[in-house]
Amino acid sequence: MFKGVLFDLDGVITDTAEYHYLAWRALAAELGIEIDRQFNQQLKGLSRADSLRLILQKGQQTELYQGEAFQELMQRKNENYLKMIQKITPADILPGIKELLFELQAANIKIALASASQNGPVILEKLGLADCFLGIADPKQVAAGKPAPDIYLLAAKEIGLNAQECLGIEDALAGIQAIQASGAVPVGVGQAQDLGADIDIVETTKDLNLAYLQEVWQKCEK
Ligand code: BG6
Ligand code: MG
Repeated sequence: MFKGVLFDLDGVITDTAEYHYLAWRALAAELGIEIDRQFNQQLKGLSRADSLRLILQKGQQTELYQGEAFQELMQRKNENYLKMIQKITPADILPGIKELLFELQAANIKIALASASQNGPVILEKLGLADCFLGIADPKQVAAGKPAPDIYLLAAKEIGLNAQECLGIEDALAGIQAIQASGAVPVGVGQAQDLGADIDIVETTKDLNLAYLQEVWQKCEK
């Protein structure tokens, strides 16, 4: 049986993935670059800097890749994003997540956060979920962002486990790839066309529960 569950945050625990999209779209528009939901699929799960690099690449403005201008653009996006998330409350926890966290706790399964977001701790506080997380991997401490495995390896370490003893839950392709590279077992939230046909996927977080995770794990043990 798995000993830990490593959670992505944005789009898995709460719908902040939407706010990231809106904030990036607004910043891109200021630069004369148009991004849509389809393009946003590539941004999901990526670090703030990697997201901005992709947007600038799309707008052929790679001269902004470095220096103060780059830092200022990241800061501008984050300030807008922080305004958007001010009003987050426990009512914004995605369906089924709180119940799942309680089930995991009752079964003595350790819970950690493996988010690329530097705003993770603030958001967990706003959702009233900070106490559920035994470990939070700090994205500033890892050399490479998703799809590299680093943040999942660190999250497992934070709760005293190897990634191979854990499941990881993600709504983005870069995140699923990070889980797979870490040796943890992936569970996707979303659609096979976005996340890959070779992994277990639920359409919405409502379908996540301990029994389902046990089923996924047992399949991988065989
Ligand atoms: C990830 C999101 O969780 O965090 C990305 O999926 C986001 O969209 C990334 O860019 C970094 O977040 P933040 O809050 O540090 O800018
Ligand atoms: Mg996500």
